Amino acid sequence: MLDASRRWRAQGHTVGLVPTMGALHAGHLSLIEAARAENDVVVVSIFVNPIQFGPGEDFARYPRDRAHDEGLLSGVGVDAVYRPRVEAMYPPGASTRVRVSGVADPLEGAARPGHFEGVATVVSKLFTAVEPDRAYFGQKDAQQAAVVRRLARDLDFPVEIRVGVTVREPDGLALSSRNAYLDPDERRSAVSLSAALRLASAAYAAGERRPEQLRKVLCGRLEAESLARVEYAQVVDPETFTPPGTLAVLAVRIGKTRLIDNHDLSKVFPG
Ligand code: PAF
Repeated sequence: MLDASRRWRAQGHTVGLVPTMGALHAGHLSLIEAARAENDVVVVSIFVNPIQFGPGEDFARYPRDRAHDEGLLSGVGVDAVYRPRVEAMYPPGASTRVRVSGVADPLEGAARPGHFEGVATVVSKLFTAVEPDRAYFGQKDAQQAAVVRRLARDLDFPVEIRVGVTVREPDGLALSSRNAYLDPDERRSAVSLSAALRLASAAYAAGERRPEQLRKVLCGRLEAESLARVEYAQVVDPETFTPPGTLAVLAVRIGKTRLIDNHDLSKVFPG
């Protein structure tokens, strides 16, 4: 991968990297389109990274469908698909981890111990393997994007971090590979995340600024859904992920499936 990337760059081409874990959907495709528009060469990595899943999380059942992914990628003009094997990424004895503190600690960091360490480690390795000029992450994983921005800055990776807007189903549900786990009743309940963000955004537009009141609006809508269990619902600063701020962030279990979503309340909710 590195040889290919260095050859492209020696020819004066810029390289855009879209890191993924596969199970591709329109959200990934919009990141690939952005990468296509801004770079000469686009690399998509597909690697279900074992070290970012905690014990009891869904590593084993995370959707893996090579034919589906290749079908989607064949239509969008990708120059290379980088699929490292687990043993190549983490050979026996590999014991180094990259830990970002501060922005990686609250919310997802607190709910999923070790998760961001796994993400920061694999993203560092992907940056080393591809040496991209730009790398593309989705706003749905807003805290991950902030962690990666901090990582790139602190470790001097010469890469520009670009964040693509969340792509949503017509009813507002943010696209996620984990939506595939939802049964029909759960799928109906899952709309509560975007509905809660939409209500909080409307409250903000009507002048509500009190964090507790905005939280109440979010939780009120989520708790109206019998299948939903709120893990966190907060309004935080988009750089530090601590209050106060305007970014509403949610983690909600719908049945056994954990979904996250977010929206900057100072902006109109889309759709
Ligand atoms: O967002 C993801 O799909 C993953 O966390 C990433 C960035 C590809 C790292 O494994």
